[in-house]
Amino acid sequence: MIYLDNAATSFPKAPHVADAMCHYLNSVGAPVNRSVYSSAMEVGFQVLTLREQLARFFHFPHDPNHVIFTAGATASLNQAICGYLQSGDHCLVSATEHNAVMRPLTAIDGVTFDRIPCDEEGFLQLDALPSLLKPNTKLVVMAHASNIVGSVQNAEAMGRFCHDHGLHFVLDAAQTAGHIAVDFEKFQLSALAIPAHKGLLSAGGVGGLLLRPDFAKTLKPLIAGGTGSQSDSEQTPTYLPDRFEAGTPNLPAIYGWSAAMTYLESVGINALRAHELTLIQIFLTGLQALPQLRVLGTTDLRRRVGVISLDTGIYDNAQLSYQLEQQGILTRCGLHCTPSAHKTMGTFPQGALRFSLGHFSTKEDVYCALEALKALCV
Ligand SMILES: Cc1ncc(COP(=O)(O)O)c(C=O)c1O
Repeated sequence: MIYLDNAATSFPKAPHVADAMCHYLNSVGAPVNRSVYSSAMEVGFQVLTLREQLARFFHFPHDPNHVIFTAGATASLNQAICGYLQSGDHCLVSATEHNAVMRPLTAIDGVTFDRIPCDEEGFLQLDALPSLLKPNTKLVVMAHASNIVGSVQNAEAMGRFCHDHGLHFVLDAAQTAGHIAVDFEKFQLSALAIPAHKGLLSAGGVGGLLLRPDFAKTLKPLIAGGTGSQSDSEQTPTYLPDRFEAGTPNLPAIYGWSAAMTYLESVGINALRAHELTLIQIFLTGLQALPQLRVLGTTDLRRRVGVISLDTGIYDNAQLSYQLEQQGILTRCGLHCTPSAHKTMGTFPQGALRFSLGHFSTKEDVYCALEALKALCV
C-alpha cells in the first residue's frame, strides 16, 4: 500500500506512539488531576510533560499551562472562534479556509466576516487587508496552509499586521504543524490550533490550543464541568488549563502524542522539512510531463507543503482516485471539507485529486504515484 492521504491523517504514526497508548491502557489507567495515588500523579506528570514539549516545539514563550488540550484541531478552532467573537463583531478569514473555521464562524449569530482574496498561486493578497478592515473587526483566522492548495501563507507578515491594528490572530496549523517551522512568538499569535494526528504523527481525538494569556482572558469556555480543582465551587475556575479542560481528557492519546513529540523533537523540524522538500520536488518535476493536470497552488518549493492537489480537467477525480486505489495508491478526491478553497482555485463543484505526502512517504512512493498517473491520463 502507498499511503498518500497524510493531509487527512498521517500513517504510519511515529515510533512508540502505539506502545505509549497501550502502556497507559494496560499498565497505568489512572485519572488525571483528580486522585493523588502514585499512578495518578504519573498521569499528571505526563500531561504536563506534553504541554512542555508542545510549548518548546512551537516556540510558545508563555506558561505551558496555557497549552490546552482539546478533542482536535476542529475543537480548538471552535473554542478560539466561538469563545471570542460576539454578536456585532467582524472577522477576517483567508479565502481558502477549511470548514473547521467556516462552520463555527457562520454559526455565530450577528457575526460578519470577509474573505481575504488570494492570487492564482493561493497566496493571500496582504495588500488587500487595509481595505477589508472595519471599525468592528476583532479577529483574523488563517490556515497556515490550506488542505488543498498547499501554499504556505506569510504568517509573520499577517502577525505584524494584526499587531499593528490591534487584532487578535488565530492560526490554523493543521497542515503545517510537523511539516514546517511554526513559531508562536515570531508570528505574534493570539492562538495556535493543532491536531495530533496529522503532521504530528499521533492518534486522533486530541488536539491543542496554545493561548496567549491576554487572549485567553477574553475567551469564554465552550464546555463547563468538573476539573478536579476547586471542587467546593460550582463555577468554572478562572485559571488555565482548568478553565478550558472540563471533563476527563483522552489520556491514551495524550500518552501517544508525547511519544510522537519525543520522536519529532529528536528528528528536528529542519530534517522533517528537508525530507518532504525532496519528495515535493520529485513529484512536481514528474508532473511537468502531465500538463493536462493542473497543480493547485504554488510550484515554488520553498513556499509550499506536500499537499499536492490536481485539477484533473477532463478526467473525473473520483474515478482517478478509485483507479489509483486499485493499484494500492491511496489518495483523496472531491472537495476535502473546503468548498471555499475549491471556489477560489476554480475547482468547485467537481473538486480535485489530492496526494498528500507524510514523514514516512518515500521517493519510491512518489515515483509509483507518478507512473500510475501517467498510465491513467494518456
Ligand atoms: C486546514 C485544516 N484545518 C482544520 C482541520 C480539522 O482538523 P481535525 O479534523 O483534526 O479536527 C483540517 C483537517 O483536515 C484541516 O485540513
